[in-house]
Amino acid sequence: MAFVSRSMKLIAVTVLVSSLQVMADSEFQWTKLQATDKLAWTPCYSGLQCSLLTVPLDYASPAAGNASIAIARYPANCTKSEYRGPLLINPGGPGGSGVDYVVDSGASIATIIGEQYDIVGFDPRGVSYSTPTVYLFETDAERALWSLPLLNTVFPSLNQSVDAVAQQWARGQILGQLAVNRNEKDYIQYMTTDNTARDMLRITQTFGYEKLQYWGVSYGSVLGSTFAAMFPDKIGRVVVDGVLNMQAWFSANLTSEMVDTDKVLQIFIDGCAAAGPDACAFHAPTSAEITANLNALFSSIKFQPMPVVTSVSYGIVDFTILHNFIFDAFVTPYALFATLAQSLADLAKGNAKTLYSVNEVPPFECECNTTTPFHANVYEAELAIACGDATPVSDTVAELQAFYASERTVSSFADLWGNLRVLCSGWQLHREDRFKGPFGAPNVSFPLLVIGNTADPVAPLVGAKATADAFPGSVLLTINSPGHTSLGAPSTCALGYLREYFQNGTLPAPGTVCQPDNVLFPTTNGTTARGLDARREELLIAGRTIGQSMRRVTARKFV
Ligand SMILES: *[C@@H]1O[C@H](CO)[C@@H](O)[C@H](O)[C@H]1NC(C)=O
Ligand SMILES: *[C@@H]1O[C@H](CO)[C@@H](O)[C@H](O)[C@H]1NC(C)=O
Ligand SMILES: *[C@@H]1O[C@H](CO)[C@@H](O)[C@H](O)[C@H]1NC(C)=O
Ligand SMILES: *[C@@H]1O[C@H](CO)[C@@H](O)[C@H](O)[C@H]1NC(C)=O
Ligand SMILES: *[C@@H]1O[C@H](CO)[C@@H](O)[C@H](O)[C@H]1NC(C)=O
Ligand SMILES: *[C@@H]1O[C@H](CO)[C@@H](O)[C@H](O)[C@H]1NC(C)=O
Ligand SMILES: *[C@@H]1O[C@H](CO)[C@@H](O)[C@H](O)[C@H]1NC(C)=O
Ligand SMILES: *[C@@H]1O[C@H](CO)[C@@H](O)[C@H](O)[C@H]1NC(C)=O
Repeated sequence: MAFVSRSMKLIAVTVLVSSLQVMADSEFQWTKLQATDKLAWTPCYSGLQCSLLTVPLDYASPAAGNASIAIARYPANCTKSEYRGPLLINPGGPGGSGVDYVVDSGASIATIIGEQYDIVGFDPRGVSYSTPTVYLFETDAERALWSLPLLNTVFPSLNQSVDAVAQQWARGQILGQLAVNRNEKDYIQYMTTDNTARDMLRITQTFGYEKLQYWGVSYGSVLGSTFAAMFPDKIGRVVVDGVLNMQAWFSANLTSEMVDTDKVLQIFIDGCAAAGPDACAFHAPTSAEITANLNALFSSIKFQPMPVVTSVSYGIVDFTILHNFIFDAFVTPYALFATLAQSLADLAKGNAKTLYSVNEVPPFECECNTTTPFHANVYEAELAIACGDATPVSDTVAELQAFYASERTVSSFADLWGNLRVLCSGWQLHREDRFKGPFGAPNVSFPLLVIGNTADPVAPLVGAKATADAFPGSVLLTINSPGHTSLGAPSTCALGYLREYFQNGTLPAPGTVCQPDNVLFPTTNGTTARGLDARREELLIAGRTIGQSMRRVTARKFV
């Protein structure tokens, strides 16, 4: 069995940290593991190894108690002398489970980076299998009643109705109050990015290494940049990919993150016009006509939402659902533009089922008084981390409306991302000693590799450029493509640089621009633009697998 040979080698490699317990995979449960301040590995998830690491809730005050961090590694497969230590990964969110991420994509990451690293996924404090886990609701039923079906997977549009901003403000106040009321154990205020950065250093040190090796996408870029700002002399290899501006993040104001969003919409429209009706179902001869058709759909659905009943479930496709669907496709356009086009074309013909079915979830069911811990808590962890990180937002409803109005001048999708600031206006748990900058460092111990796309819907190229500048010596690698992170813009050129960086510490020449390999509206004669050899094909498949996982583990949105 592959697992046996892999783990046998590993025992030799990591004598330092291994005390491999004997427990069959099938019996694996996080709740059966004992948290310790060493790494004690237990087989888990067919071929992976899991451990619970004790860390202080508050690094400045041991009396605050401990947290335990759920860690899963996809073990290195190499000789002892080739072994390169742990490579930590983060899928974004915040609130995405790094354990789920490595379970899905550990093998694919090793394909890209190399087999000499332990690929280490961890649930950031407060998230998923790490404890204490952030809960604002006491049961699944309570949570489901707060977030109606589908509404826990989308951002409610601030343009859905005239009182949408006020409604979201009110919901934010309630969530903020719940967090205070349900914080008897006094832990939620510690669930912030600065502490997760400290945890990453602790994990690295527990492996017996001094410097961080890391690849973070999306919010994972905030985590990586924060680490680099706090511990500039602890950088081994750090890749930040799909980069959010730190200043924007730590002030709960993502306006600057939306400057490229509408470029992606334009790329969809222009690409659809050029692709022809076979490759793009929403085709019209000119971009102007496609734009008009799309606007007609928006107007019509605003005033007449579309009811859908399938054999599985039922629901309403309204402006919120439609706008989210389009925005989602911008994240991984190569995977989703064709589906988006088909869904829009069907919608224009009065059929909302195509769009509805893509994200369909069965009606909510639960054992309504279960004591089983809630696992996928992106929804609550995201709020605790994002709002707890930020300068307290004291805006009134009128100020939030003005904020949204001003953000709308930047992007027509501000109705979705504007939610962060609106919801954070109710958040009350802010530590005075939280990270407040500086948002850079003059002298990092190894240059960062910063990856940015020319049209990233939520992390514009200017943010990546600013981050590279904030850590002198770091290099910006540009991918000339729409999509969020290098996983949303599959490019063997970029994946090749990523590999070189981890393998040899080599950075691309400043100004390097990579092209994507795929085409946005593939024709039946193939999905790739150029002839690819087997290795590049393998890299692209690995990138796609990781991208799907990134989407899956961060799927739940702000309330
Ligand atoms: C480990 O690497 C060897 C080749 O070096 C390969 O044959 C084997 O399948 C690998 N094991 C796993 C679990 O990937
Ligand atoms: C926290 O963990 C440390 C290290 O494992 C341990 O020494 C300490 O007693 C723990 N503190 C509490 C409050 O459990
Ligand atoms: C949010 O950020 C934008 C762009 O950086 C800025 O123009 C605006 O004044 C900020 N709004 C608030 C409320 O901080
Ligand atoms: C829910 O379960 C807990 C313990 O499992 C029990 O104490 C409580 O009474 C139950 N509540 C209801 C409404 O059944
Ligand atoms: C908001 O909705 C109105 C219609 O209700 C529409 O005219 C307007 O363009 C929308 N604004 C944005 C930014 O989407
Ligand atoms: C920058 O950091 C490196 C490695 O940590 C160190 O060798 C060097 O002296 C530092 N340079 C300055 C100007 O601080
Ligand atoms: C790393 O450097 C070695 C020696 O210069 C070279 O042979 C190898 O191709 C490089 N590996 C990568 C992934 O760039
Ligand atoms: C694939 O189709 C496109 C557009 O129809 C055409 O331009 C291209 O030459 C075709 N490629 C191959 C390899 O047949």
